[in-house]
Amino acid sequence: MRNLLIAGGAGFIGSNFVHYILPKYPDYRVVVYDKLTYAGNLDNLKGLEGDPRYAFVHGDICNAEAVAKALEAYQIDAVINFAAETHVDRSIMDPDAFIQTDVYGTYVLLEAARQFGLERFHQVSTDEVYGHVPGEHRSLETDPVAPRSPYAASKASADLMTIAYHVTYGLPVTLTRGANNIGPYQYPEKVVPLFATNAIDDLPLPVYGDGKQRRDYQHVLDHCEALDLVLHRGKIGEIYNVGTGAEMENLAMVEILLHELGKPRSLIQHVTDRPGHDRRYCLDVTKLKALGWQPRHDHEEAIRATVRWYVDHEWWWRKIKSGQHYRQYYQRNYGQREVLEGK
Ligand code: NAD
Ligand code: TYD
Repeated sequence: MRNLLIAGGAGFIGSNFVHYILPKYPDYRVVVYDKLTYAGNLDNLKGLEGDPRYAFVHGDICNAEAVAKALEAYQIDAVINFAAETHVDRSIMDPDAFIQTDVYGTYVLLEAARQFGLERFHQVSTDEVYGHVPGEHRSLETDPVAPRSPYAASKASADLMTIAYHVTYGLPVTLTRGANNIGPYQYPEKVVPLFATNAIDDLPLPVYGDGKQRRDYQHVLDHCEALDLVLHRGKIGEIYNVGTGAEMENLAMVEILLHELGKPRSLIQHVTDRPGHDRRYCLDVTKLKALGWQPRHDHEEAIRATVRWYVDHEWWWRKIKSGQHYRQYYQRNYGQREVLEGK
């Protein structure tokens, strides 16, 4: 495995993975293939221009011809698919792009991987495919998928197609299902960068409903290490959950974030909940740990480090938040939400 095509490598996790993998494997070449949607950002890959082991291709994973051209031109051995529409709230407002990219686009990549006889196709998936996880249960890789948002349903569909390509055509695939990632270069629509940047500017933090939903906020670098491990030591045809295995309430995450910034709790504003909001995600990560992986950050460290990154990188996020696209999205998603008193 020497020439990697990183689909969606200009987004949050993909770009972190590129920065992680290039120095780690001096004999690897990396091609980022990305459509540069609102979430794709070449600022995330700054500093790599001119590196002979790095190339960027501007392309859509739904375009079979362009995908084939890139695989051929760069003699690709393995595809790692990060490319997706990724935000639940946007999937509720406009599901169409999710079906296109997350479902059809993954199929296009799988088909190309089959035709080119690639060594590996890795699908980067999410814990959201398991849906709301009740009680004390921790999702196992063998649990049935039960997605509840258009985003989760599109990712679950892609997982099923990836497995079908392995079973039917023998394509050497692996899959990972990650918990909520946080860290550098995350688009400030996701809760931690949104709340950190709002709090820096003394703007309200719109907490959905009672804020008692539970998530596993893991540092993106722990996710990158897990991907590396699964790519090199994972078993073909297998799924691996990736998370710390611990969980916390959103309000607890907000407390840590505000404390790190020295900002008051009065910034918290409870607003109308997300429709179909999954109350709890929680992963069993025993299978990944058996490969030799351990997360390096706990929730608190991951949140604090992430907040500090946003404090130190205003040049990165102010450009985004002051743009017309972002301002329109913010108005559309938050403009109509009622502020809930007495929460
Ligand atoms: P992101 O939204 O930050 O980035 C997505 C990238 O995909 C962008 O660079 C975008 O331009 C690109 N893209 C979108 N449509 C494309 C298309 N049709 N063709 C080519 N490129 C396209 O996403 P992220 O948070 O980095 O997530 C990456 C992957 O990890 C996704 O598949 C997501 O489902 C999965 N995941 C994310 C999280 C999380 O917490 N963010 C957790 C688990 C799994
Ligand atoms: P998000 O970052 O959108 O990730 P996901 O929905 O994939 O878990 O949201 C994380 C949690 O934060 C989720 O429970 C919804 C909540 N949330 C808010 O309370 N307010 C917000 O403005 C956003 C974007 C999310």
